[in-house]
Amino acid sequence: MPQTPSGTHRRRRLSRPVPLALAGALLATAAVGLPHLSSEASAATTLRGYADGRGVKIGAAVGDGPLTSDSSYTTVLDREFNSVTAENAMKWDALEPSRNSYNWAAADRLVNHAVAHNQGVRGHTLVWYAQLPSWLKNGNFSASELNTLLKKHIDTTVGRYKGRIYAWDVVNEAFNEDGSMRSSLWQDKLGTGYIANALRWAHAADPAAKLYINDYNIEADNAKSDALYNLAKQLLAQGVPLHGIGFQSHFEVGKVPASMKANLKRFSDLGLEVSVTELDIRIPLPASSAELAQQSTDYKTASENCLGVPRCAGVTLWGVTDKYSWVPGTFSGYGAALPYNEGYAAKPAYTGLSNGLNPNA
Ligand code: XIL
Repeated sequence: MPQTPSGTHRRRRLSRPVPLALAGALLATAAVGLPHLSSEASAATTLRGYADGRGVKIGAAVGDGPLTSDSSYTTVLDREFNSVTAENAMKWDALEPSRNSYNWAAADRLVNHAVAHNQGVRGHTLVWYAQLPSWLKNGNFSASELNTLLKKHIDTTVGRYKGRIYAWDVVNEAFNEDGSMRSSLWQDKLGTGYIANALRWAHAADPAAKLYINDYNIEADNAKSDALYNLAKQLLAQGVPLHGIGFQSHFEVGKVPASMKANLKRFSDLGLEVSVTELDIRIPLPASSAELAQQSTDYKTASENCLGVPRCAGVTLWGVTDKYSWVPGTFSGYGAALPYNEGYAAKPAYTGLSNGLNPNA
């Protein structure tokens, strides 16, 4: 592992406010006069150690398959990540495959795993055009029926995990690339007002959860992020409970947008949280060592682009290891998108990400 404790990582700059827990630990250490620095340093040099030190989340999307069958996977997941997102298990088709018949098993497993390993959970996702059960997609429901179905879905799902999910991607991928609203079951039948309604219903079901709008290709300042910015401003002006924007960040190697940090900052200037929610950085296969080095730089840049902005809540990767990544199945000819390879060896990208999280790197 590249995160072997080294003397240089033990230095702590105290120019930033010291988080309470850390201050307590330092005081306790001082009180007994024994600097337990070696164990402290080794915990701090994991991704989650650095993230905890900064009061932010480092997360990973988790599939139910590896969670239940691969102990190498859970070892890395639990050592390195302080937050998890269900890769598929909380999508509507997974939760309610036939009408009124719920399957909570996989979602419950993840939430229980997270609680047991002191990880937060990001909920993903309540309102999306994709991964809808066919009874819903093909049901020819009227607008008023759809409204009722959506409210029930949100009440039931958010209510079930109330207090155990710190942030929900309430609305996912609502925009087209040109900034117009994407055609979907919700948009076409209910109009853009479904977004405010979904946020209000989710807030009523769990007032403590941070509620997000999440999308891809909004990392740069472009037509799509401009449209989302305008909608976010409008929702806030109307008092709608919108708390954050999720920047999926499915990147191609060497193409982290130059305007990413400034773009995240304009959302944070509205008083919103910002989070990177689905980071992966795909490489045309086979990956060369130059591309793996560039990917490492990209992981550092992408994480710093969020953490360098006020109100960045954290960075979630869309997976842990190349072994289970969605990339090869979706982007033909691409892969190697995550910080661990298929054999759980840390790639250069791990070091890049770790340096992006470590304020002293
Ligand atoms: C992907 C999953 O990774 C795949 O396993 C599934 O087949 C399709 O969905 N944006 C999102 C995620 O918001 O939910 C998607 O996850 C990836 C793109």
